[in-house]
Amino acid sequence: MVVAPKHVGLHVRRRTEFGLPSARRLFMSSYLVTGGAGFIGSHLVTELITRGEPVRVVDDLSTGFRRNLDHVSGVDFLEGSLADLDVARRAVDGIEFVLHQAAIPSVPRSVADPLTSHRANIDATLNLLVAARDARVRRVVFAGSSSAYGNTPTLPKREDMTPKPLSPYALQKLVGEQYCALFWDLYGLETVSIRYFNVFGPRQDPSSPYSGVISLFISALLQGRRPIIFGDGEQTRDFTYVANVVDGVLRASRAPGVSGEVINVATGVRISLNQLFRSLRDLVGSDIEPIYSDPRAGDVRDSQADIGKARRLLGYEPLISFEEGLHRTLDWYRTGVA
Ligand code: UD1
Repeated sequence: MVVAPKHVGLHVRRRTEFGLPSARRLFMSSYLVTGGAGFIGSHLVTELITRGEPVRVVDDLSTGFRRNLDHVSGVDFLEGSLADLDVARRAVDGIEFVLHQAAIPSVPRSVADPLTSHRANIDATLNLLVAARDARVRRVVFAGSSSAYGNTPTLPKREDMTPKPLSPYALQKLVGEQYCALFWDLYGLETVSIRYFNVFGPRQDPSSPYSGVISLFISALLQGRRPIIFGDGEQTRDFTYVANVVDGVLRASRAPGVSGEVINVATGVRISLNQLFRSLRDLVGSDIEPIYSDPRAGDVRDSQADIGKARRLLGYEPLISFEEGLHRTLDWYRTGVA
């Protein structure tokens, strides 16, 4: 397929087609947040709405919830799955920036059911890229994952290390990044992949055994149940409060010279599961002991980001520390207010 050069005029016309005909709107951008009803997606939507940006969400509500967007108004919500190319085409129509968060996360879920996560994480991503290319979207920011590094021995993890995925999820996220880079090389669609490292915060759903560990630990402690630690608890993670990721992603949507790049966004600090458990137990004021169980298949031992590239290319700096993030998250699980 031949891709014609992009024209400024085309973008102006498309922006008015987004149902925002006023002259003022011509100077604003339009964002699509895929998976916008999910945990990280809903935080991106909130920040964009706060900044006065027009936002559309596409979400199939497979892991997200409409209620995650109850506190914001003016979002153009499209319910559907990006595994359907027609949905992807409708989602990107008139859009300038795509923040692609839609995915079926979780390492163990992908080990148990690789086909479903493949469809959500690879087929849907390819559909979205094809649709974005054809609709002349300005840039796609892809949610990559630190799981791509696997157990490469060096810490912290730098983006130029050879990836070593240990699970279908890790491989699928890596393929997504590579598709993004390919669409930049092949078709000139601007793409950038941001590798997330164990993101946590308000609205992370604790209700599934596949939920993120911080949400599981907090909900167990608040309900007086004993959390389970898989393995000896000495595995480490670069736990990143969600506001840091929102900042990194929004910077990536506008930064010059980042097309085709993969960039870690995290804190650069690693915390063991045992440390995490103790911090949360102190904050909650509980004396519950964890249950130690067998290590999980596909689990990475240590994870810690080198964030030098994000600093250089995005001007990124972590805004919220791990400790402050835990406070804010715990407040939300206690009160429902972020
Ligand atoms: C991985 C990715 C992360 C990605 C996430 C998506 C790595 C290093 N990180 O997170 O980038 O966003 O998948 O789901 O691969 N654990 C317990 N008890 C529990 C639950 C978990 O001990 O009840 C342990 C796990 O075995 C693991 C750690 O906590 O060692 C973190 O688990 P989880 O929150 O599921 O995230 P990762 O699999 O590390």
